Amino acid sequence: MSDRVLIFDTTLRDGEQSPGASMNQEEKLSIARLLQELKVDIIEAGFPIASKGDFNSVQAIAREIKDCQIAGLARAKHEDIETAWNAVKEAKNPRIHTFIATSPIHMQYKLKLTEDQVLEKIKDSVSFARNLCPNIEWSCEDGGRSSIDFLYKCIELAISSGATTINIPDTVGYTLPYEFGEIIKNVKNNVSNIDKAIISVHCHNDLGLAVANSLHAVENGARQIECTINGLGERAGNAALEEVVMAMKVRSDLFKSHTNINSESISKTSKLVSSITGFPVQPNKAIVGANAFAHESGIHQDGVLKNVETYEIMSPESIGLKKSSLVLGKHSGKHAFKEKLKILGYDVGDNYINEIFEKFKTLADKKKDVYDEDIIALVDDTHINQINTLKLLNLSIMSGTNSKHVASLELDYQGEIKEISGSGNGPVDAVFSCIAKIVGFSPKLKLYNINAITPDSDAQGEVAVKLEHLNKEFIGKASDIDIIVASAKSYINAINKIINFEKNSNMQEGVSEISLSNMKGI
Ligand code: KIV
Ligand code: ZN
Repeated sequence: MSDRVLIFDTTLRDGEQSPGASMNQEEKLSIARLLQELKVDIIEAGFPIASKGDFNSVQAIAREIKDCQIAGLARAKHEDIETAWNAVKEAKNPRIHTFIATSPIHMQYKLKLTEDQVLEKIKDSVSFARNLCPNIEWSCEDGGRSSIDFLYKCIELAISSGATTINIPDTVGYTLPYEFGEIIKNVKNNVSNIDKAIISVHCHNDLGLAVANSLHAVENGARQIECTINGLGERAGNAALEEVVMAMKVRSDLFKSHTNINSESISKTSKLVSSITGFPVQPNKAIVGANAFAHESGIHQDGVLKNVETYEIMSPESIGLKKSSLVLGKHSGKHAFKEKLKILGYDVGDNYINEIFEKFKTLADKKKDVYDEDIIALVDDTHINQINTLKLLNLSIMSGTNSKHVASLELDYQGEIKEISGSGNGPVDAVFSCIAKIVGFSPKLKLYNINAITPDSDAQGEVAVKLEHLNKEFIGKASDIDIIVASAKSYINAINKIINFEKNSNMQEGVSEISLSNMKGI
């Protein structure tokens, strides 16, 4: 019988540590729901000591998600561990994940601790955690660059102090696959009590080897892989969940182990993570890129028409990409629309169906064919626009090559109708300036990205903006057939996130916010 490899998803923790990828509680919960549907074994929901917001998100996920273990990260400090426990303890199956660095460079320069002092901290932190929770993961940060003999000692001690999972991270993505495989094999063969714990790996992608290293580790005895959707994560990211899972599935002839992942939920989870973080997926990205199943050249197309297996090693359906013959247009009714949503994998509650259907009708009036991508954008927009203090009611633009660019907007701000007109260097600049005047603050525009969702010149434009306000970044996304309207809505979406963030921070006044980047100086 083939062994099970546990999938530990850290999109909401390591993934969120990607610069600019911070998510709010509602966004994290919606990703956690899809991770549950994907059947990941463990969700690392956050770093509860990092901020009150992180704590609340981890707690909300622990309360709601019942089919996955919920982990919270903690440094080797009682305060961190207690906070992580308080955040996860209401989960059906909570886990505390505590870590300390074990490489010479981290111990000497970052921790300023000797090997013996690190050993003391391991004993103290793991036994403290184990007194709170039976499910303890311990990680040797920068394990890939640690001395192997010191690693044996640390791991043996972590297990005898109560760790049930031993995670070996290649924190800086430095090792090569055969080298990392050797580390796992050596740990398995030389740590006397290793049979009492599951070996896990956590590989970063600095050399583009995170997935290869994780798979090699599995071949050598690892039975848990830590990974993220779309490979999100610190610097070059973590091992991509979809790549690890599909490699093990497609090449099950070679692996003596398998995962329990419901691969048909991969595509929509990837899309949701991209939509929430504003990080587009590169078109040629393995498994989830827009071109991953596209056949452009004549020779390939001819082969695929004769037998798809000539050029496809897995089916688009296996990751949840469903082609349907149901074409929607302005005459389609609510029933057909609901069917389409189901086919696309959306289970939209009664509260939202009417709102999304209304938006669909408006779009279908303007656009002959409504593609699957258009409908996905409508659902995402509806989800995105749930908490909105600021709403766009009307927008008109006067613009031309030789004239001034003037925007006139009607907005609903805090329940009051506001009208404003103003000019700018271009139509988008004019719109953004007007909105900033209404809310009374002017965040810095760090990124503006526009994409046609589908082919044809009547396609919807999807706009993503990143705004910086008080040293924090906020992403806004929206789509519309009119790209200036899409720009306005995406800006408003980010502004609403700023307003919500400020409201929440005011409610939590007195609670210190520690930014994640500060937490790296552990
Ligand atoms: O990369 C790393 O070492 C980590 C640890 C906290 C597991 O993210
Ligand atoms: Zn990491």
